[in-house]
Amino acid sequence: MSVLIKGGRVITAADDYVADIYIEGERITLIGESLDLQADKVIDATGKYVLPGCVDPHTHLEMPWRGETTIDDFESGQTAAAFGGTTTHVDFCIQGKGQTFGDALAAWHAKREGKALIDNGFHIAVTDLREGGTLEELARLPEEHGVTSYKLFMAYKDSLMVDDETLFRTMQVAAKTGALVMVHAENGDAIEVLVAEALAAGNTDPIYHALTRPPETEGEATNRAIQLARVAGAALYVVHVSCAESVEPLALAREKGWNVHGETCTQYFFIDQTYLERPGFEGAKYVYTPPPRDKANQDVLWNAVRTDILSAISTDHCAYLFDGQKDAGKDDFSQIPNGGPGLENRLHMIHEFGVRGGKISLNRMVELLATNPAKLFGLYPRKGTLAVGSDADVVVFDPDKQLTISAATHHSRSDYNLYEGTEVTGSPEVVLLRGNVLVENGQLVAKPGIGRFIKRARFGEELKPEALAAASA
Ligand code: URP
Ligand code: ZN
Ligand code: ZN
Repeated sequence: MSVLIKGGRVITAADDYVADIYIEGERITLIGESLDLQADKVIDATGKYVLPGCVDPHTHLEMPWRGETTIDDFESGQTAAAFGGTTTHVDFCIQGKGQTFGDALAAWHAKREGKALIDNGFHIAVTDLREGGTLEELARLPEEHGVTSYKLFMAYKDSLMVDDETLFRTMQVAAKTGALVMVHAENGDAIEVLVAEALAAGNTDPIYHALTRPPETEGEATNRAIQLARVAGAALYVVHVSCAESVEPLALAREKGWNVHGETCTQYFFIDQTYLERPGFEGAKYVYTPPPRDKANQDVLWNAVRTDILSAISTDHCAYLFDGQKDAGKDDFSQIPNGGPGLENRLHMIHEFGVRGGKISLNRMVELLATNPAKLFGLYPRKGTLAVGSDADVVVFDPDKQLTISAATHHSRSDYNLYEGTEVTGSPEVVLLRGNVLVENGQLVAKPGIGRFIKRARFGEELKPEALAAASA
């Protein structure tokens, strides 16, 4: 199968030019001006942007947690992703307490079997090194499973949180194996005290989710993780940075040239703490962690992604039903499932308010949504760019298409959308995964099963296109 994408404005992290892209099989084989080639399928991209498929490094599909399971499985979550121009994601495989990492990974592989519509890798979330998971097994994951990032939660004391010894020992393993350490940075011990005090005082509304997780608890944990990673000699990636208190230690670390990286998520640019006060328990829709912050932080985050203090924008897609799941916390904010949907609208929102809003360039948008996540997580240059030899993951994006974001038309199973009613100009028109059309004319045209699991390279190493890797082996 060959595809010729004609006359589009090709935009990568570095370039912006009009060209044709020729795809044979699964890869891009030629990029040039007015290519005179026959193809099984020709896509006229005149007046359109041609972008690399976006890479989302932070998702939670079919994740069981605190008695609920996130509502999007690999089929619905990846369908939402495809419609939003995301063709690869890295999902969190959570080690159950007492479970080996191998067993946890087997369980997560089973979730995607027969359902996958886009490509994905897994991070391993380490929750227990006392029983089940061992440091030796952790060290084997990059080589044996292509899992090259270890995630640790510094919060959620009732479930996922690890102590500093576990965090530090994992960092030491990562320093040896070349894996990237990821942290959810919040001081879980202090938060546990604040939550108990709020509940004891009868403060049960959703707003207390934010009031019991003040930004200083995020700043403190971010700094702790940075310093411990320095001691261990590990590369560090701080997930879902939400506020100035954690941007500041990251900025300092990067100024010093330390091996420290950070992401924020789409929602932190748009949703502030006042959303948690919406009447009729509607605030529960915005209960995710870290919580929506004071609005002043939104400019801090735009500045941080513009200046590369933060290198990626993910979604932290962790979707629940408002009606039927979030209501578990009607009488107690601490029981509201933490998380929100977002996989489908990252490109829409960042294009509209980041690029059209004059905060970042088109090149920087591609870098934040595709190239940097691919580089940081061992997927580049197979993913995250448009180049000869790369996987033909391509988004033909119509910059003039008008769209109203709504749960009525999105593809997540969640019954609400964080950006409900937002009007944007610009939307993916055709989305290809390894040369296969996934989405065209507003329809999903591929079948579940087409998505592949990707064994990722170690931090700082390149993932060679499959054919080239075989040729050089
Ligand atoms: O609220 C959130 N973010 N839920 C998912 C788990 C996490 O902390 O990333
Ligand atoms: Zn988290
Ligand atoms: Zn998350």
